[in-house]
Amino acid sequence: MAHRIAAIPGDGIGNEVVPAGLTVMAAAARRFGFDLSWESFDYGADRYLRDGTTLPDADLAHLSEHFDCILLGAVGDPRVPGMEHARDIVLGTRTRLDLYVNLRPIKLIHESLCPLKGKGPRDVDFVVFRENTEGMYAGAGGFLAKGTPGEVAIQESINTRRGVERIVRAAFLWARAHDLGRVCMSDKHNALRYEGDLWYRTFREVARDFPEIEARHLYVDVLTMEMVRAPEQFRVVVTNNLFGDIVTDLGAQIQGGIGLAASANVNPETRRAMFEPVHGSAPDIAGTGRANPLATVLTVAMMLEHLGEGRAAREVEAAVSAAIAEGATTPDLGGSLTTDGVARWLCQWLERPETLR
Ligand code: NAD
Ligand code: IPM
Ligand code: MN
Repeated sequence: MAHRIAAIPGDGIGNEVVPAGLTVMAAAARRFGFDLSWESFDYGADRYLRDGTTLPDADLAHLSEHFDCILLGAVGDPRVPGMEHARDIVLGTRTRLDLYVNLRPIKLIHESLCPLKGKGPRDVDFVVFRENTEGMYAGAGGFLAKGTPGEVAIQESINTRRGVERIVRAAFLWARAHDLGRVCMSDKHNALRYEGDLWYRTFREVARDFPEIEARHLYVDVLTMEMVRAPEQFRVVVTNNLFGDIVTDLGAQIQGGIGLAASANVNPETRRAMFEPVHGSAPDIAGTGRANPLATVLTVAMMLEHLGEGRAAREVEAAVSAAIAEGATTPDLGGSLTTDGVARWLCQWLERPETLR
């Protein structure tokens, strides 16, 4: 049966990296003999400015019913400074499809890409489980006396026992399934009394169900420090929505830059999923051919794994490693290829007979 992908390139470089990612995915499909079909949807700033459409419930229901998963590029456009469209397209898809796991691997592919002195691929290899539906992103809050000198803005962090427990459990299950031996939960319970208390208590309780896995806690400020000082100590990190957003951009840098950071938004029970590179729409380089497509290609590898095409996923990752080793990259990684040039290089590598690689 064909895998059906709903592609939402979105804004800026999303329109460059998503086609590149799909081209590589098509090459992988030819090589491994699976059927693939995709349809592109124009949700994004242009559409929003044209007719006010963001990503309505009925459209999302259509995507979710008729496609196996969504591949999103990025959204964000200087003409929509309030990000009104993005709220429905990115955050709204995560919550409406209840994609509570935001899985973000921090994996250094080649030593030359790491800004940390003396660290290599063996030292930077862990995953972050970012809670994806609650916390500071829940949208709870409001203004008092808006527009007056006495204005008050309240942003509330929503944390439910169910929400915290399921992301913590997902992190432990991942550690068990991949034989990783340890999970580190990161919060800020010394300052955030209520949410911190719930997170810490829940973590301790869930950890009891996984006696073979070392359960460790770090305050999030310390986590950022330790990720730079000694990243090799981490295997699985679980944290809330906002902290997860921040620490995965830090993680992106220690793995070689934002142009290499991939992510999956998944609900492990329903298997619904949306895949997206961690980076944004990069308006500063959009249209120049300088966008690094590797984050999207590695995201496609995560999507292939989800679709049951594990061999193809690993081969796509191998192609990315080869491109980096050969310097077949965009300028952010020191190469001189364009976005499409990198995609073509990867396709050729994937389609070449094994003996020539
Ligand atoms: P950004 O990730 O778009 O860009 C940050 C810097 O990294 C820029 O200098 C950019 O040129 C560079 N960069 C990013 N991706 C790159 C790539 N693939 N190759 C080479 N260089 C790359 O972050 P920003 O500038 O803070 O945000 C721009 C817009 O994107 C904003 O509207 C923001 O809200 C949005 N955004 C969207 C998402 C998403 O859709 N998931 C994620 C992050 C930011
Ligand atoms: C990300 C992005 C989004 C987030 C923005 C665009 C709302 O930064 O996916 O990391 O904060 O989750
Ligand atoms: Mn982010």
